[in-house]
Amino acid sequence: MRDILVGVSGASGMPLALCVLRGLAAMPDVRTHCVISHGARAVLRAECGAGPELLAAHADHLYEPDNLAAGPASGSWWYGAEPAAMLIVPCSMGTLGALASGATGNLLQRAGDVALKEGLRLVLVTRESPLSAVHLRNMLSLREAGAVIMPFSPGFYLRPQSLEEMLLQTSGRIFDQLGLAHNLGRWAEKYTENEAKP
Ligand SMILES: Cc1cc2nc3c(=O)[nH]c(=O)nc-3n(C[C@H](O)[C@H](O)[C@H](O)COP(=O)(O)O)c2cc1C
Repeated sequence: MRDILVGVSGASGMPLALCVLRGLAAMPDVRTHCVISHGARAVLRAECGAGPELLAAHADHLYEPDNLAAGPASGSWWYGAEPAAMLIVPCSMGTLGALASGATGNLLQRAGDVALKEGLRLVLVTRESPLSAVHLRNMLSLREAGAVIMPFSPGFYLRPQSLEEMLLQTSGRIFDQLGLAHNLGRWAEKYTENEAKP
């Protein structure tokens, strides 16, 4: 059993968060914990016309972003859930900055801070463009502290035919970073320019 804490912060990319949560829910050996920030709720309304229940429906446990007494706020909780990892998808520049400074203000940020201090896997699917020097420095700080910085950056080499396919392929790359098995496609030499997509 793997416990994965999925933080959803207020960057653009809610359809990706939904796709990832659906994918995790389909993995029988994964238990999903989810925190949806207040910022994310505003973006969810804008991008999906929905409330947090759209995402929460695919999580095993949902935590309120203001509940700093919830389990993931404590390092000891994570060891009861080994091997645990945290994913923030999408990761806003606000949440990135909070993690880079250590000045965390909600459960999502605190949990990320705990994952870092405990040396646990922390994958940040960042979303902003263009990036300022502040954003870039924050990313470097967090990479140096052990986080995986994974900008929302779909590849075209698997020839996605739809937005859904692109999201699934991006989810596959995220699952790779979490060490989770999937069949969402990966590069193979058979994808040459003269061959049809299998
Ligand atoms: C529709 C919408 C889209 C947004 N997209 C982004 C984005 O892509 N990246 C980002 O860093 N912030 C984005 N923001 C701004 C963040 O939501 C805002 O900075 C928020 O305070 C982040 O809070 P959080 O990190 O606690 O979720 C967006 C806001 C809205 C309303």
